[in-house]
Amino acid sequence: MNTHATPLKEQPKPDEHIPVAGPWVSDLEVEYVAQAAANDWYKNAGQSVKRFEQEFAAYLGIRHAAAVPHCTSALHLAMLCLNIGPGDEVIVPESTWVATAAPIAYVGAEPVFADIDPSTWQISAASVERCVGPRTKAIVTVDLYGGMPDMDAINAIAKPKGIAIIEDAAQSIGSSYKGHAAGTLGDISTFSFHGTKTLTTGEGGMFVTDRDDLFERAARIRDHGRTAADFKYFVTSEIGHKYRMGSLPAAFGRAQLQRVNELIERKREIFSWYEARLSGIQGIQLNARVADVGNTFWMVNAVLDSSYDLTTLQLMQLFDAKEIDIRPFFPPLSSLPAFAKYHSVVDACVQNPVAYDLAKRAINLPSALMLTEAQVDRVCTVFRSILNNSRNKSV
Ligand SMILES: Cc1ncc(COP(=O)(O)O)c(C=O)c1O
Repeated sequence: MNTHATPLKEQPKPDEHIPVAGPWVSDLEVEYVAQAAANDWYKNAGQSVKRFEQEFAAYLGIRHAAAVPHCTSALHLAMLCLNIGPGDEVIVPESTWVATAAPIAYVGAEPVFADIDPSTWQISAASVERCVGPRTKAIVTVDLYGGMPDMDAINAIAKPKGIAIIEDAAQSIGSSYKGHAAGTLGDISTFSFHGTKTLTTGEGGMFVTDRDDLFERAARIRDHGRTAADFKYFVTSEIGHKYRMGSLPAAFGRAQLQRVNELIERKREIFSWYEARLSGIQGIQLNARVADVGNTFWMVNAVLDSSYDLTTLQLMQLFDAKEIDIRPFFPPLSSLPAFAKYHSVVDACVQNPVAYDLAKRAINLPSALMLTEAQVDRVCTVFRSILNNSRNKSV
């Protein structure tokens, strides 16, 4: 445990509002940011960014890391580095945040939506196989809610066909698959450091890869098309983007990275509090514990079976009335108006029944890092009472 860590809050008041997500910030972050604010200028300009990238790469055991303004920009960079563009298709899971798929549209390619596995909720290899076609250029896997997809099965589909894998590890810092760290399983992997994530910089992200060619390209595109040699002379060899993280968030991220193990352990502890209180209730499925997967439980989820007459929307309203923030399980991307023009949405609700079904009866429970066990207890008491009322009504 880091000696700078701020102790968790004392016992909350019984009716205090309970947030769904949020960070754990200690004095160490404040200290690092203050140092960067005072020192990261002139000959030291950008030094916290460079250090954050080096320390992050060392933490993952990967060759290259580039700190960027958010995971969305890291995913956009990934598309550009892999030369994905008009005429190409990219497979993505139905159940994820829109930012996983939007960068496919930014480069003029077409998203193709794959179903998820009913027990792990991760992208299903069988569904990926069905989605592969002659125009498939890449698969974006998502380590959903801190779990991990069956990467061996997905690699077995992708590698023989030369299809690239982009691992969206936005939600999974610290997770692992067969001993490999989340974020080391794609040709390119991406992280989010948004304020809701286990490790945060407020807004921020990281592009990581073991491949020198992809990193060299990313370094150029993220700095307006400049190479290191061009840097001093205002020369630019291609139109790029301005996707660089600033020193102050990088300094914050360095402190969080020093504390990453306690942040991850806190997430696991929060899940175990819920598991102890809810796993005995019939008809509720929590995040899966899967052999070979080290799950970090970024968000604790509860899926209700059909014996409860409760929809996700109703659950949200009932918890809201008790000052408890919950979130819906991700609605299938193919159901969103934003993606209506793509051909793969036409029969998606038939092809991808699991994603469509789960979204109707699943919620994210409060999983903020500052939650106390007493708050989790209150959430579970409210949840049990909602479930009892629903059962009683349907008898
Ligand atoms: C799976 C997934 N991908 C991408 C993103 C985008 O991250 P950012 O907000 O840092 O752009 C998120 C953010 O929540 C996410 O959950």
